[in-house]
Amino acid sequence: MPDQKDRSIPIELKASLTSGSGTWHSTGAPGLVRPFLLADGPHGVRRQRTGGDALGIGDSVPATCFPPGVALGSTWDPELVRRVGAALGQEAAALEVDVLLGPGMNIKRSPLGGRNFEYLSEDPHLTGRLAAAYVEGVQSSGVGACVKHFAVNNQETDRMRVSAEVDQRALREIYLRAFEHVVKAARPAMVMSAYNRINGVPASEDHWLLTRLLREEWGFDGVVVSDWGAVDDRVAALRAGLDLEMPPTGTDGEVVAAVDRGELDESALDAVVDRLRRLEARLGGAKEPASEPELAAIRDRNADLAREAAAQAAVLLTNDGVLPLDRSSLDSVAVIGEFARTPRFQGGGSSRIVPTGVSSALDALTRRLGADVVRFAPGYTVDGSGDDALALAAVEAARAAHVAVVFLGLPEHAESEGFDRTTLDLPTDQVSLLERVAAVAPRVVVVLSNGGVVSVAEWRHHANAILEGWLLGQAGGEATADLLLGDRAPSGRLAETIPLRLEDHPSYPTFPGADGISVYGESVHVGYRYFDTVDRPVAFPFGHGLTYTRFEYSDLRVVAPAENSWEVTFSVTNTGDRDGREVAQLYVGPVEDQPTRPRAELRGFVALDLRPGETTTVTLPLTATDLQTWDARGQRWTVRPGDYAVHVGASSRDVRLRTTVHSDGDRVLAPLTAQSTIAEWRADPAGRQVLATLLDRVSRSGLASSVAPELVRMFLSIPLDKLRSFGLGVTSATVAELVREAGARQAELLAAGAYRRPGAARNHSQETP
Ligand code: BGC
Repeated sequence: MPDQKDRSIPIELKASLTSGSGTWHSTGAPGLVRPFLLADGPHGVRRQRTGGDALGIGDSVPATCFPPGVALGSTWDPELVRRVGAALGQEAAALEVDVLLGPGMNIKRSPLGGRNFEYLSEDPHLTGRLAAAYVEGVQSSGVGACVKHFAVNNQETDRMRVSAEVDQRALREIYLRAFEHVVKAARPAMVMSAYNRINGVPASEDHWLLTRLLREEWGFDGVVVSDWGAVDDRVAALRAGLDLEMPPTGTDGEVVAAVDRGELDESALDAVVDRLRRLEARLGGAKEPASEPELAAIRDRNADLAREAAAQAAVLLTNDGVLPLDRSSLDSVAVIGEFARTPRFQGGGSSRIVPTGVSSALDALTRRLGADVVRFAPGYTVDGSGDDALALAAVEAARAAHVAVVFLGLPEHAESEGFDRTTLDLPTDQVSLLERVAAVAPRVVVVLSNGGVVSVAEWRHHANAILEGWLLGQAGGEATADLLLGDRAPSGRLAETIPLRLEDHPSYPTFPGADGISVYGESVHVGYRYFDTVDRPVAFPFGHGLTYTRFEYSDLRVVAPAENSWEVTFSVTNTGDRDGREVAQLYVGPVEDQPTRPRAELRGFVALDLRPGETTTVTLPLTATDLQTWDARGQRWTVRPGDYAVHVGASSRDVRLRTTVHSDGDRVLAPLTAQSTIAEWRADPAGRQVLATLLDRVSRSGLASSVAPELVRMFLSIPLDKLRSFGLGVTSATVAELVREAGARQAELLAAGAYRRPGAARNHSQETP
């Protein structure tokens, strides 16, 4: 922030720059800074030429509809996501858009989350890697990316008022971690502050979040824009570090008055002007609109990429060998379900775009197999519900067919921005349709269309194969046909757990909260972290996904080239007879059960395309960051000494290779105080020595002839200072002396270079009332 107030620019002008000039434009001032055009995002360019709304109501210029976040997340493929980002950036630039409002990167805390279709995963590592690739891709096209919604925006219920009540560890380790990675690794041009409150403080007015953490700790140098309508108090938001209120609320006068009254430092406005000018320097001048032929060429290219991405996103959950369908012996296929003809390919709300062309699976299959082979029966209506006549016709179609491909899913009205779901169940009419079809069809393949997870436990036994198609964007129909017919092999993996029952989920008792409070009672145990830690059965685990071949893992080796740094090497072989992709996953967790820590967490992954018989050897790095946990008392990341289990495998549950590594910890010496417990003193090399003199003194005092081990254990949780109350001859002077001695001893160790001091960080609670 500049120290000096820039008096050359009138306050009124500066105030006007901190808000938009309309729904999608920031305010410009000739000679000072140009206006920027912002547009949704995330999975297509929602460029509205006339009027404007943030709810997805009004039309927009046709644009490529790429697979939404849920599908991109399931690709586990940062390279692909980077290409999608670059393609989105090119299309945005052609439509004169300066900043694309994406990626959406909130963690899927509950499978009921209404916007889960826009988000990438329940895991911060995967979310962070994919979102960084998206940002890099978009920005490689000269367009800014805007990561959203910062932060802890994990539900739609009461989304504009609710307070996410979340502990410091869950904040750091789960809800902020992906944002941290993206800000540091990919330098997004913008961050969008969320609607909700975090521990009582509105995210758009949270100085700790927007300034201390985002800018000072993580080094963010871009612009913070509010979610549309998120700002309640302009002045508080500016003080907190928000740059741009969107859309404008006509309250510039309040900002000027606050400066006049001395309630808002003018330098806060200068900082905004600086950041907007830096953004202009970064993005260059206003974009030139592309000519129609140029735009057409971009759209053609992007349509192909949308199809490729869709094919990589679908997850093959089960398959007894019925897939891929064998074209040579296929003389009749019953295609059942309205979603085969009228596909669901994106979710509702601000991300809804007008696609350039939508393919249906029915058309794609009919074109490839022939109209004489495919028999279609809708089975249910477009709103997802059935009637008996439709079901009967579907059963007849299935009876006569070699195989029934049944499209099931959630209707549009069941999931959208703005509300959460209340059940994981598919519409009951669809489930009973499946039962009836399965009773007569020799083989059944289920293809799912849903933005959020649906339960499969009650009906999965009716299907010979299940392809989870999520919402696949405009080319989902062609991509689905590619996969069913084996023109491509499925390669998606679950980026979120499919539980057996909603009630099993760790968020179940507390989601979405009540009376404006949403308590994150499961803390860091989000998704698979919980299921795996407590060994609770799930329908399909995080990371799961099949393809048309098999893989074997072998030769796990770990080398440690430096302290707290490892290289994990292993080999993967395609042992089947088709090309295929394996997504090898690396999970790490403490060997000794620490109830407050997840058993193992994703720390690396790699997608490997292998021909039959081919073996590849890969090395994944593991660093101190991967072992860290947030120490809320010490307000810092810490690596605890000990053994860590390293798992390599095909899902969080399908562990193929395992080993352990040892860490001596991060060798950080935190100051020891009178309030530090005996355990903390003993864990510290200086404290241990100094304490020995105390224990010695106690035993020599005659109060205890020797210090029995159980006595020591009993003492462990007691802060040093409290020993004064236990009649052990420990006085305030003793405590002060021990603290001084420990400080001196620590200083020697630090000077010798074997240890270091913790870095500075501040907890959210230290800034909030
Ligand atoms: C959404 C944002 C979106 C904005 C502009 C809001 O309702 O939460 O994700 O970017 O509208 O459309």
